[in-house]
Amino acid sequence: PAPGWTVDADVVVIGSGVAGLVAALRCRPHGRVLLVTKALLDAGSTRWAQGGIASALAPDDDPEDHLADTLTAGVGLCDEAAVRVLVTDGPDALRGLIELGAAFDRSADGEIALTREGGHHRNRIAHAGGDATGAEVSRALLAALKDSGVEVIENALVLDLLKDAAGRAAGITLHVMGEGQPNGVGAVRARAVVLATGGLGQVFSATTNPEVSTGDGVALALRAGAAVTDLEFVQFHPTPLWLGEGARGQQPLISEAVRGEGAHLIDHSGERFMVGRHELAELAPRDVVAKGITNRMRETGEPCMLLDGRHFGAAMWEKRFPTILAVCRHHGIDPVTEPIPIAPAAHYSSGGVRTDLYGRTSVPGLYACGEVACTGVHGANRLASNSLLEGLVFAARIAIALTDDLAAADFAGPVEPSAPATSPDTVTSPGAAVPAGRDGAGAPGVARVGGLVDPAARNEIQRIMTSHAGVLRGAEGLDTAARELAALPHGAAEPGVEAWEATNLHTVASAIVAAARLRKETRGSHWRQDFPERSDAGWRGHLVTRLAGNVL
Ligand code: SIN
Repeated sequence: PAPGWTVDADVVVIGSGVAGLVAALRCRPHGRVLLVTKALLDAGSTRWAQGGIASALAPDDDPEDHLADTLTAGVGLCDEAAVRVLVTDGPDALRGLIELGAAFDRSADGEIALTREGGHHRNRIAHAGGDATGAEVSRALLAALKDSGVEVIENALVLDLLKDAAGRAAGITLHVMGEGQPNGVGAVRARAVVLATGGLGQVFSATTNPEVSTGDGVALALRAGAAVTDLEFVQFHPTPLWLGEGARGQQPLISEAVRGEGAHLIDHSGERFMVGRHELAELAPRDVVAKGITNRMRETGEPCMLLDGRHFGAAMWEKRFPTILAVCRHHGIDPVTEPIPIAPAAHYSSGGVRTDLYGRTSVPGLYACGEVACTGVHGANRLASNSLLEGLVFAARIAIALTDDLAAADFAGPVEPSAPATSPDTVTSPGAAVPAGRDGAGAPGVARVGGLVDPAARNEIQRIMTSHAGVLRGAEGLDTAARELAALPHGAAEPGVEAWEATNLHTVASAIVAAARLRKETRGSHWRQDFPERSDAGWRGHLVTRLAGNVL
């Protein structure tokens, strides 16, 4: 649809999690900043984050140790320069957040209390409210936003990128839902566009991500011709609360920090099955623990495993993990007296829109930060509590980049405000995400489809992805996934939020499957039962996905 209204800004930021809020606040000196967000300002993933923010603050810690743990977790695919930025800038980024008003938990001596999570060899996770770190980060940043002069449009689903004649990002189209003005489909003309749209967990049936995490930013970037990379590395959190067979949608998280404080993973006979599988046992990197749990579920035929923190006692549960305690009790489980049933669920996309060290994507004028981005810090598997940190550190660097980039660019404005060639209702190839792999052969079976995906297909997309492209993958299942995704109804759906979201989910699911089919090895969170070994000789590289199969 043609935009019914147009707003001008210097910088438009899409998304209001930690990355979007930091980007908006830091970009404010560059002029008029407009922040658009899909639901209410605090509806994204950030406020659900429990564990905390990793940074080398302890006297016995060093950014180099944080770097080493991050590289190990990423299984050979991290960009070391990006990780070095993350761990070096991390402590100051955290201190900046505290100066802004975020209250982190303190130990008896007044220092920031630091705990441990999977893959860390030191206690370096700062946390707030016990297990409500994201909520506190969100609160502090939203408070700072109030008087910042950043303008906000809530309930706005971004549709597509606008470009100028030179192919430079020149704004976005969006659909604003609800009452008041602006409303309906409109356009924001801007000199820089920052994607901070978060994750894509809703591609799967069970996820720790909220409803809004439908991969909109990755889908937009693909349609805009931006390079997207490492999409096969979807991280499954090992220990979301298991709510029974067939549980769908957002699942309650049981933080890694519960294991960091000493809880054990046991099977139904009480055996600590992670002991002997990895030197860090329950605190191995997340992919190792998710695999250990899945293997034990398969070996025993049980639909879940158990997390045992009974030895903490009531007082510690109440002080250290009040959110988790309340959620478990709400679901009829008392962690003080019984082990918690858990099962892995989709949690985090380690891949995303490829950026340089300053958030620049392959499309001039388009920037990305937070989960939607692939800065190179996560490789094949993100280290616990590096995500809020990445949002803090790399969003701020976009503002630095803009100092030069805005001065250098020549702004002609969008060629076609309605972007007819790329609006989701006219998109020609949402299913044609083809990773340019080592052989450049693309991904057979990912059929081209045209038009919007029927919103009724949303559940089916999630079923296909969970059945065939989840924790454990194989060629047969992935082929089936590609075939079934290509066969989903499309083309006849009426334009609207549900159809645009379903189309985004379909685009992203197709891209994940295409990348997963191509990577014929097991590495990090990409686990192939037909290629169970890691192959550094063949696969120590990145798959870059673009719509229509451009080879990089
Ligand atoms: C958790 O608290 O377990 C989540 C931390 C993370 O995803 O980094």
